[in-house]
Amino acid sequence: MPDRLRNAVEYSLTAGGKRMRPVVLLSAGAVAGGDEDDMLPFACAIEYVHTYSLIHDDLPAMDDDDFRRGRPTLHKAFDEATAILAGDALLTEAFRTMGESPLAGREPARAIRAIALLARAAGAAGMVGGQNLDVDAERAPASRADVEAIHEGKTAALFRAAAGMGALLGGASDEVVARMCGYGRALGLLFQVTDDILDETGSFEEMGKAVAKDRSRGKATWPVVCGLDASILRAESLKDEALAGLSAFGPEADALREIVRVVSVRRT
Ligand code: IPE
Ligand code: IPE
Ligand code: MG
Ligand code: MG
Ligand code: MG
Repeated sequence: MPDRLRNAVEYSLTAGGKRMRPVVLLSAGAVAGGDEDDMLPFACAIEYVHTYSLIHDDLPAMDDDDFRRGRPTLHKAFDEATAILAGDALLTEAFRTMGESPLAGREPARAIRAIALLARAAGAAGMVGGQNLDVDAERAPASRADVEAIHEGKTAALFRAAAGMGALLGGASDEVVARMCGYGRALGLLFQVTDDILDETGSFEEMGKAVAKDRSRGKATWPVVCGLDASILRAESLKDEALAGLSAFGPEADALREIVRVVSVRRT
């Protein structure tokens, strides 16, 4: 890897993201009895995909942001071409990391299901599709259904995949995988409503990125389209939905319950 590209990738990866998606993957995997060493390459891969999505999300052609994770955005610290390529590199490396993992060598069928789940979630029918709806919505008035579709794609898809991949890697039954996917989806929707709320009520210092920006930029967020009070109610009901998705599990799923609590009170 060229030095400058490596430095750019490392700049974003080591900037201090919350690592929510890998934590969800490892915690869901632990419920299914997965081995942490086996799951780690997949946990890294989903963080690579997420970090790439943020690097591209911040570009002038998309949200045009100057700060991320408390530092200048990658295209500000380096340049736009390097930021585009660092994103491309992270996305590709994610799939190399999973394909070359020890688990893929030992249990290829299991690994391939997890890899395909991430590919579907990250792609045009998932995160990329949601990002496309998000930027298009800047140009036209949005409805509640539009915001729901945006959140489903740009954020819930990866959280759903994180929980589902953990279950798959742990060798869970189809029923458990489906339950984990439902939990991850609700958690992801909660995460994005909270992000939208924090754009209006949070601080730059805590969030490490610009706040009070979505409304003026014409973004289709929950508070913009439905109001702040309705957004807070929506977050409450998504919290209940995420917890209800875990009702079939006992104390082994307490880490996943704690994640719901942390996300619902987060300020960062
Ligand atoms: C930011 O995600 C993008 C959204 C989906 C709201 P995070 O808030 O998880 O970002 P990091 O990884 O902690 O920086
Ligand atoms: C970003 O949503 C979601 C993805 C990058 C997939 P936002 O645009 O709301 O995220 P922030 O607020 O810039 O972190
Ligand atoms: Mg965006
Ligand atoms: Mg953004
Ligand atoms: Mg946001």
